[in-house]
Amino acid sequence: MKIIRSIREMTAYSKTQLAAGKSLGFVPTMGYLHDGHAALMQQAIRENDIVVVSSFVNPLQFGPNEDFERYPRDFARDEKVANDNGVDVVFYPEVREMYPDQPSVVLHVTKRVNALCGKTREGHFDGVATVLSKLFHLVSPTRAYFGMKDAQQVAVVQGLIKDLNFQVELVACPTVREEDGLAKSSRNVYLSPQERKEAPVLYRSLKVAAELLEKEKNITLVKEKMVEYVETETSGSVDYFEILSYPELEEVPFSGQTMIIALAVQFENARLIDNLLFTHN
Ligand code: PAJ
Repeated sequence: MKIIRSIREMTAYSKTQLAAGKSLGFVPTMGYLHDGHAALMQQAIRENDIVVVSSFVNPLQFGPNEDFERYPRDFARDEKVANDNGVDVVFYPEVREMYPDQPSVVLHVTKRVNALCGKTREGHFDGVATVLSKLFHLVSPTRAYFGMKDAQQVAVVQGLIKDLNFQVELVACPTVREEDGLAKSSRNVYLSPQERKEAPVLYRSLKVAAELLEKEKNITLVKEKMVEYVETETSGSVDYFEILSYPELEEVPFSGQTMIIALAVQFENARLIDNLLFTHN
């Protein structure tokens, strides 16, 4: 497995592979790799000749009061996870390689960001769109793999690819969970032992919401009940519990269309998110 730290080497590598007729699968990450990331890598390996994983904690997508500095990092472990999964290249640039100067151009996402995490994490998806545009240019992937754990990110990246005509196919992969249902996340390490015990309530509340919705067909009522449920069963506070159209992320009346049930819960040192897609039948 190759570790590439410079943009020059990364672009040269991709060019050579593509010129040789190889398909290139790309898994962008911020490192601290876990089984959720590994599932994306494995799918990418099944579907492409070459797989590139990037590991870059992107400062542009963190707000001033967010956890950029203390975001967990462990490259030695990441290297092992990528290698064990059969990845060909890890692109691991330094911040000054990706952003040598204060950026003179950044992207601004206008749709699908006025809900869920976009509401409180101002500029977050602008930072995601900007770094992914750079990475897509550098890696020139045939396919790029994203987790439905971050369903809003998937919706935003679909818009980015379509609007800016990136020649890449987005592949959305299912959320990987712990045995008790908690979605795997690099941020789970911030949970106290007590919070870790409570955390499966997030996924449970999504499933209960789906059942209730099927029965009651009343979005407002289900949302209210679920906020109460999560706040009673955990020490966290609910940032949002939303039921919206997907991928547009708009408030819609209950109908047969695909909807997302999504929540964010703030624990003492960790903000956790989870979601479930729901189609009424
Ligand atoms: P990161 O949080 O490291 O996630 C990298 C990819 O792994 C994302 O597509 C995310 O949805 C996916 N992922 C995380 N946990 C998962 C789980 N439990 N099951 C399935 N997939 C999971 O998302 C980012 O990094 C960044 O915003 C990035 C796209 C790299 C841009 O900086």
